[in-house]
Amino acid sequence: NKAPASLILLFGATGDLAKRKLYPSLFSLYEKGWLSNRFAVVGVARRLKGDEDFRHWVKDSIRTFGKPSARLEEFISHFYYQSHDVSDSSSYIQLKKLVDRLDETYSLEGNRVFYLAMSPEFFGTVATHLKEDGLTETKGFKRLVIEKPFGHDLQSAIKLNNQIRKAFLEEEIYRIDHYLGKEMVQNIEVIRFANAIFEPLWNNRYISNIQVTSSEILGVEDRARYYDKNGALRDMVQNHMMQIVSLLAMEPPIRLTTDEIRSEKVKVLRALRKIKPEEVHRFFVRGQYDKGRINGKEVPAYRDELNVAPDSNTETFVAGKLLIDNFRWAGVPFYIRTGKRMRKKSTEIVVQFKDIPMNLYYKNGSHLNPNLLVINVQPEEEITLHLNVKKTGKIMETTPIKLNFSTRNIDGMNTPEAYETLLSDCLRGDATNFTHWDEVALSWKFIDTISKVWEKEKGEFPNYEAGSTGPKASDELLAKDGFCWWSDTELNGKNC
Ligand code: BG6
Repeated sequence: NKAPASLILLFGATGDLAKRKLYPSLFSLYEKGWLSNRFAVVGVARRLKGDEDFRHWVKDSIRTFGKPSARLEEFISHFYYQSHDVSDSSSYIQLKKLVDRLDETYSLEGNRVFYLAMSPEFFGTVATHLKEDGLTETKGFKRLVIEKPFGHDLQSAIKLNNQIRKAFLEEEIYRIDHYLGKEMVQNIEVIRFANAIFEPLWNNRYISNIQVTSSEILGVEDRARYYDKNGALRDMVQNHMMQIVSLLAMEPPIRLTTDEIRSEKVKVLRALRKIKPEEVHRFFVRGQYDKGRINGKEVPAYRDELNVAPDSNTETFVAGKLLIDNFRWAGVPFYIRTGKRMRKKSTEIVVQFKDIPMNLYYKNGSHLNPNLLVINVQPEEEITLHLNVKKTGKIMETTPIKLNFSTRNIDGMNTPEAYETLLSDCLRGDATNFTHWDEVALSWKFIDTISKVWEKEKGEFPNYEAGSTGPKASDELLAKDGFCWWSDTELNGKNC
């Protein structure tokens, strides 16, 4: 797992992401011995004064959000800082001098990771300067890591991609989708392809529908300027939800290489049934939260949040039905749902198997629940198989039970933060858990149809109470097909 010698050039070094996730994750990799001893981090931003100031900043962030230890001082001695203007060539020329010097001091063999943890409006400018001002000219590897959003729609994504491709090859670009770094999202592939019992059933003959829910308790917080222009469809569905669906639906790759896995995921996105504008209402539901109570506390409506337009037409909730037109999945709906200010924080996948041909136990009053495979991505990391068994001490009455695996059960296991996994992958040159351009483009193409319709029409907002499970129409979307959201149902004997 050890990364090679490398320099990390971090743009947006004083931003929220760097502070909350990147420094604590890097330190954790260092503690585990997964970083090479030959490493250096150059933080680039505007607000700090110099190396010492920066090192304090990093230390603070690890103390607040990570797990500090006695090795913290030694770790931060590898950190350097440069105050920087992203659109000024002379800043990059100065940066190059620092980078070249550190390359020599730490024997970094010219290996460079450029991490853009900043607003996407600067991605193109920075990538162009990195090339034009000589920072990408190196004898080692060069990699560009970029955060979402990758564009606002297909057109802007193409424009952005063209810009960064002038400086980096596709295989040098690591587009972060932090859901792909989550332990249980990575487990989807293992559950499917390392167990004999699931793969034969993993198709339209045995599965009736698949549900993916990612709900949050949090509202828009201090991100309204970004969020109000984007909404849940662009913020969560275009990337995280589509990625989870691709992993659930893809064919077994011929081997576990980046290219093979990505190409199977791309095929799923190509097989997604295109929705016509006039069908958007049939397949997709949007919502915006009203005021309500969360954990007993009053919270305001979305339209009353700071920096949100009082008549905002932005959705904070999306539910949708996807159809994948291929041999494996024809006729099986994939329902997705995501929202802010919902009842609980949870990302959960439910695979519902078809009913058995007949219920032999109904005379004894037994109602049979369908078999479910539930993958809890967060906050708990669990896999649960729902079965029916005999009720102990009764004459052939049945009762539903759950076979459960939880990562908490493994002694000493410490699930890595998604960012830790992704940083380590990138340093080792493994791009499997990053998004390929083809995936981004296909996903935007699908999303654009929906957002265009929604932009033209005023939503009937607000239409769900904060702290609830979303608008009624989201339940009706499944009810029309004879299903319900399993994660909202108490499973003790009740069917939906
Ligand atoms: C981000 C979105 O990509 O994912 C946020 O921009 C959202 O709006 C977040 O809150 C959710 O991530 P997680 O890991 O908390 O489920």
